[in-house]
Amino acid sequence: MTDDPILIFESVVKRYGDLTALDGVSLTLRRGEVVCLIGPSGSGKSTLLRCANALDPVDEGRIRFDGHEVKSTESSVRLVRQRMGMVFQNFELFPHLTVLRNITIGPTTVLKLGHAAADERAKKLLAKVGLSDKALSYPSALSGGQQQRVAIARALAMEPALMLFDEPTSALDPETIGEVLSVMKTLADEGMTMLVVTHEMDFARRVADRVAVFDKGRVIEEGAPQEIFTNARVARTRDFLSHLGWHGEGAASVSKREEA
Ligand SMILES: Nc1ncnc2c1ncn2[C@@H]1O[C@H](COP(=O)(O)OP(=O)(O)OP(=O)(O)O)[C@@H](O)[C@H]1O
Ligand SMILES: [Mg+2]
Repeated sequence: MTDDPILIFESVVKRYGDLTALDGVSLTLRRGEVVCLIGPSGSGKSTLLRCANALDPVDEGRIRFDGHEVKSTESSVRLVRQRMGMVFQNFELFPHLTVLRNITIGPTTVLKLGHAAADERAKKLLAKVGLSDKALSYPSALSGGQQQRVAIARALAMEPALMLFDEPTSALDPETIGEVLSVMKTLADEGMTMLVVTHEMDFARRVADRVAVFDKGRVIEEGAPQEIFTNARVARTRDFLSHLGWHGEGAASVSKREEA
């Protein structure tokens, strides 16, 4: 990790009609840092990622990515989409394309990479996520965990400076969650900068450099995982964690999935 900030949210406010989804969020990610966002449903975590990715314009404040302000202008949107990879809960692969083509389509169309080079890149990434044998399969023939690993490979094929993950394992069968988290852990170990919304508290505790706790559109607390998980200062954080069945380091951790 470096001290060099790559993504900066400055007093970001986002409203949907009367509802304030983000109520003055300030948060900085440094290059190489892994930040996990945790917090109750409806607290604004996905909204923050959508604003970062220029899917939604902010109403107040600003977001800076890699030295540029994120705006809804065409050039800003293009830059952000190229340099920020996004992985969603529901994979969002192209159903009519093979796994290989799902991964090469961005590099060939957006980055103008030649087909041979794009294929080579895709195959390396498939090996990385453990799916070399699925290159010619269609997404519908894959398990959820496999589809999500393809989605990660697809995002990586653009050689992003930053990866955003929005609950990448919450739509998965329990037995395939581990394989996706393990790919994410490898990425983190390799130095990828990652902003991860997750309910997997064990993952946040083991992999995050920093955890930011959301509530009602605000970051109510942020710190190293050991501080947040063993010594949260804010009562609302402790309530949230104990609601998930988390009672501090060493206690059995019960994620949302196991609770369900
Ligand atoms: N497109 C939209 N139009 C109107 N309201 C929205 C829209 N998107 C989000 N909201 C509202 O903004 C608030 C924050 O939603 P958001 O999806 O960011 O929460 P979240 O923390 O990601 O929740 P979850 O853990 O359930 O995914 C919620 O009250 C939600 O209903
Ligand atoms: Mg969400």
